[in-house]
Amino acid sequence: MKYDFAVIGAGPAGYIAAKKAASAGKKVLLVEKKKLGGVCLNEGCVPSKTLLQAAKTYRHAKHGSIFGVEVEGVRFDFPKAHQHKNNVMNKMRDGIAGLMKKYKVDIVEGEAKLLPNFPIEIEGETHEATDILLCTGSSPAIPPIPGVDLEHVVDSTGILDRETLPNHLVVVGGGVIGCEFACMYASVGVQVTVLEAMPEICPNLDPEVSASLRDGLTKKGVTFNLGAKVESISADKVSYADDSGSNELEADLVLVATGRRPNTKNLGLEELGLDIDDRGGVRVDNRGATNIPGLWAAGDVTGQAWLAHAASRMAEVVVNNITGRKDHMRYDSMPAVVYTSPEVAVVGLTKEEAEARGIKVKVGRIPMAINARYIAENPDETGFCKVILEADTRKLLGVHMVGGACSEMIFGATAMLETELREEEIEEIVFPHPTTSEIIKDVFMAVR
Ligand code: NAI
Repeated sequence: MKYDFAVIGAGPAGYIAAKKAASAGKKVLLVEKKKLGGVCLNEGCVPSKTLLQAAKTYRHAKHGSIFGVEVEGVRFDFPKAHQHKNNVMNKMRDGIAGLMKKYKVDIVEGEAKLLPNFPIEIEGETHEATDILLCTGSSPAIPPIPGVDLEHVVDSTGILDRETLPNHLVVVGGGVIGCEFACMYASVGVQVTVLEAMPEICPNLDPEVSASLRDGLTKKGVTFNLGAKVESISADKVSYADDSGSNELEADLVLVATGRRPNTKNLGLEELGLDIDDRGGVRVDNRGATNIPGLWAAGDVTGQAWLAHAASRMAEVVVNNITGRKDHMRYDSMPAVVYTSPEVAVVGLTKEEAEARGIKVKVGRIPMAINARYIAENPDETGFCKVILEADTRKLLGVHMVGGACSEMIFGATAMLETELREEEIEEIVFPHPTTSEIIKDVFMAVR
């Protein structure tokens, strides 16, 4: 069959691109070798956030007495939480299938391989397309640590299938994935230790945000060993080296969360001469175009951003360019969230990033605890909101928050950044009272 647009991979880049191109009148093929929704829906964002919510609900019930809620004999039923997780995933998959049907996207199940001049081979059948979007996602990058293939050692996919709680979970890697699972397991009473090779967890965040997240998770019962490089894993122990020398921890479940790598193998890309960068990602310009005309890429396969919402936006940019609307990626206004308790939500530059670009900045910072709604709802949490402005123009450059459910507020700051608002324009925006979002208005009072 001959298509206008073929999409390889049905994750948050693929299904968004397919729907958008089809609604613009293109004849669209969507190829998927596993399940609709990709890693985000089946092995990542959606199941992990559902389990995190289950753990949060348990913790709230257990610690509800400050609100006057006394619950006798509260207990956590992990298999039931998994059932809810599976129901959510099924519902969302049905939703995507319905969307594709509505927009008359042809879905083919199978593994696609690209041949020169754009025939696409899927399980022995060949299709053609004028433009192709490669959005095959990423997989956990497993370091060559001896013992990493033992049965009790899992990656971020494997841990989602475990329905029994361990006694001691050791997490290798204090990045976003490591922190989210550490929070989930610690919240339901499991002993959790995170071993992070760097001097701080989530090293890509504002350093004060990382430190505050670590404090918050420590209060939830997570132990962090920083500067700890894992050397080997045995049936019941994890061996690591830090400043004090060689150490060992007992563990009956080990999560390896040391980053991800783009999925570029077995697609015929080498034969096509596709440009791959040093970190294994498909090299694209800011429209998503590769070095081969008509071949585009979006999402984790590019090795950029590693975020589901970034993948969807990259896909929209590609489709806009194919359908005649100029568009490009703007990573400086890409929000990022860590869905722990407390949550982290950030958008834009940190002070350090802005200064490295030679920009003179002004910084404002206020504790979340000045906000009435926040302390009413989060009696045991601290956290803060920090804003970065360009010194001369007072243009907003970044907002960095830790505390409560700040994931639900970062969209407001993202819209301000995307529309390049300045302090005086933000002052004119009315925030409903009492809401935690008022913190984003009040933080400007503290700019120095
Ligand atoms: P990451 O790159 O965020 O963190 C991995 C950490 O492991 C690093 O801090 C690294 O220093 C440490 N590490 C590496 N080797 C080690 C060793 N041998 N011993 C101890 N520590 C070691 O990777 P992560 O957490 O696996 O996440 C992968 C990607 O997925 C990230 O880019 C993340 O942003 C994205 N993601 C985003 C989510 C969100 O937006 N909420 C949720 C989950 C993943």
